[in-house]
Amino acid sequence: MVLPPGKFRMGGAHFKDDKAFIATAVNDVERLSDYCGLTATSSLLDWGCGAGRLAVGVRERFGRIRDYHGVDVQPELITWADKNLAGPGFHFTLVDVSNERYNPDGSLERTVASERDSVDVFYAYSVFSHMNDEDTPAYLGLIAQALSPGGKAMVTCFVEEDVAAWEENPTGYGPLDWQGRLHCTRFARWHFEDHVNAARLAVDRFEYGHETDGQSLYVLRKG
Ligand SMILES: C[S@@+](CC[C@H](N)C(=O)[O-])C[C@H]1O[C@@H](n2cnc3c(N)ncnc32)[C@H](O)[C@@H]1O
Repeated sequence: MVLPPGKFRMGGAHFKDDKAFIATAVNDVERLSDYCGLTATSSLLDWGCGAGRLAVGVRERFGRIRDYHGVDVQPELITWADKNLAGPGFHFTLVDVSNERYNPDGSLERTVASERDSVDVFYAYSVFSHMNDEDTPAYLGLIAQALSPGGKAMVTCFVEEDVAAWEENPTGYGPLDWQGRLHCTRFARWHFEDHVNAARLAVDRFEYGHETDGQSLYVLRKG
């Protein structure tokens, strides 16, 4: 098993060692199976895949699936993943789109690099936690377009009751001292769910606060 080197693991203190890194990935694949119906015959889009953590979990759990597609804006991560994790059933795409934290000079033409109605399971872990309040509704719309009929998306983000609609790096919130653009983006729950509904998605499941750094988990389906 080839693992991304520590500097590519995109989760800092959360991945203490290789075993912990693999365990988080396998756990997420199991949740994708339970919550979103992921099987070996699914097409799975890992949007904001980083160095391909989820691909490691898919390989551990299923060996391979019909289609795992990892998409990210960071060339060094996609290059590494493509070299070390791509193969039958596993491929990666670099998208040069803008994100003020990860790719500030990228294009304003948003894409999730997928055909309409083609994705059975869409996964976005710790991606909306680093996203502005214009990109977020636009990408939720692209998720709705990409999902196949009956498809589901599992996403994480920071949401709280009784806070501003959207805030960047809120002081005194969460376990870290947020540094730099979009280190932590936090939504009021009603505001994020308004974006979800506007994208013609519906909330299938909500679990508050148990993900990385206190993020919450949503499972979304076409509304
Ligand atoms: C905190 S990392 C999470 C990595 C991975 N999902 C994981 O859980 O291990 C956030 C990732 O989202 C990517 N990202 C941010 N905006 C993006 C966009 N518009 N399209 C694709 N990837 C994006 C970043 O480059 C980064 O790799």
